[in-house]
Amino acid sequence: MDVADDPRVQQFANWLSESRRVFVVTGAGISAESGLPTYRGVGGLYNNGETEDGMPIEVALSGPVFQTQPEVTWKYLRQIEGGAQGKTFNRGHQVLAEMAKQYTDFWILTQNVDGFHSAAGSPNVIEIHGNLHRLRCEACGHRENHEDYSGFDGIPACPACSSTLRPDVVLFEESLPLEELRRLDDCGRIDFDLVISIGTSSHFPYILQPILVAQQLGVRTVEINPARTLLSDEVELYLPRKAGETLEAAWKMVQASA
Ligand code: OAD
Repeated sequence: MDVADDPRVQQFANWLSESRRVFVVTGAGISAESGLPTYRGVGGLYNNGETEDGMPIEVALSGPVFQTQPEVTWKYLRQIEGGAQGKTFNRGHQVLAEMAKQYTDFWILTQNVDGFHSAAGSPNVIEIHGNLHRLRCEACGHRENHEDYSGFDGIPACPACSSTLRPDVVLFEESLPLEELRRLDDCGRIDFDLVISIGTSSHFPYILQPILVAQQLGVRTVEINPARTLLSDEVELYLPRKAGETLEAAWKMVQASA
């Protein structure tokens, strides 16, 4: 069925029209239409079992391995970054940025480290897993931004203290960034009337929770994901479709009815 004829998309559009405060959770699926691989599922980065370094990718990308073998972690971070080189935000990111201008409150909690939501113009983005384009020094706190990693080889050194620089992303077994947690906590004080999950397998409790809590409180919940997840039976409206086309079609319906 064409997206514009899907009554579930019309229902979503009606809810968008009736809402004033919207909270959106996004994952790798929203960037899939930019050509980035997802982590899990078809073509996912994590599907190949052990890496050539004899450990699962989640171990290679972990805080403890970074502390002892930074070259291993850097190797796989470079692969992830390489997959994003030359790619940019897509229509889905743009529609969310357009939506943000129309609502009293509009927040995006993203697990993506590609920076596409901000690049597309979304103002209130919580990057709970950090941002691959930012490097930081754990020793002295120096930070620098890189559009991509083509400008340096191997492990970059801090220009201020010569320690190892690292991407400002959350590795496995590391804590979430405090500032982003504080912003997420602040969102807990807003009475959202629509909560939307887009393109995530909802692997982590802090990603599942906002949707489940909203559902329990009687707030409208929507999931957009072509594959079912553990949220699909929990949300009030499940849209088994791609993010970009669904957001675009629903937003057109909202504007047509304004
Ligand atoms: P996953 O790779 O686990 O899930 C991606 C989801 O996107 C899947 O459920 C797909 O079905 C869905 N999907 C694929 N194409 C889509 C499309 N066009 N439109 C909508 N949905 C689509 O990615 P995340 O849930 O984001 O963390 O993974 C979460 C975290 O796992 C990542 O941030 C990363 C990884 O470990 C860290 O590195 C700490």
